[in-house]
Amino acid sequence: MAEGARNCDAHLVHISSDYIFDGIKGQYAEGDKPNPVGYYGRTKLAGENALKISNALYTILRTNVLYGVITKGRLDFVRWVVESIRKGERIRIVTDQINNPTFLDDLVRAISQVIEFRKFGVYNIGGREFLSRYDFTMRIVDFFNLDGSLVDKIITPDLKQPAKRPLNSGLVTLKAESEFGYSPTQMEETFRIMQEELGI
Ligand SMILES: NC(=O)c1ccc[n+]([C@@H]2O[C@H](COP(=O)([O-])OP(=O)(O)OC[C@H]3O[C@@H](n4cnc5c(N)ncnc54)[C@H](OP(=O)(O)O)[C@@H]3O)[C@@H](O)[C@H]2O)c1
Repeated sequence: MAEGARNCDAHLVHISSDYIFDGIKGQYAEGDKPNPVGYYGRTKLAGENALKISNALYTILRTNVLYGVITKGRLDFVRWVVESIRKGERIRIVTDQINNPTFLDDLVRAISQVIEFRKFGVYNIGGREFLSRYDFTMRIVDFFNLDGSLVDKIITPDLKQPAKRPLNSGLVTLKAESEFGYSPTQMEETFRIMQEELGI
């Protein structure tokens, strides 16, 4: 894709991930040193690197934990929490994975802004708040008036996932804020938009 973009002077916007980091330091800035701990993170970093050496006009937008108004395909985290608890199912949520979950509309606006203002290079795009997946879940529970007693606190090793995850992660968005006015939507407002547009 980078080669194709370079051949026709197209601006290629690549969506990358905080999984290029090891999750030790947390709250990563664009200049922090990547050190992926799993295969997915390595492929995302390889994609970034291929683009950087391609001579194409590119923007890399790194983001994390996307959620929002999605009408087809698999459920995002917010809808999974809402639907599972409404069905009366118990859910197990980790307290030791920290991110700043990103509302899709904010990412879409950022894509549009980098195209409009011709901003190239690497930018972080994340939500306003850094919090654990458990705390994020409890914010969803409170907003959608769900039964919080169905949420069990666990830690990542309890999940016995085959791939290692970066734990203390998340992306600082100051660069995008100062260079093109990125302004993430307040969390409860994102839930309100989902409630209204998805009827959940
Ligand atoms: N989700 C997150 O929290 C998150 C966080 C950071 C970065 N990202 C990055 O954001 C991007 C999208 O992630 P996602 O979570 O939205 O993934 P997703 O839900 O799996 O969506 C992937 C999309 O890519 C399409 N696709 C997959 N393989 C394709 C192929 N060979 N040719 C053409 N289209 C193909 C799929 O089409 P179909 O619908 O037809 O299958 C689908 O629409 C990825 O690059 C991911 O690394 C995601």
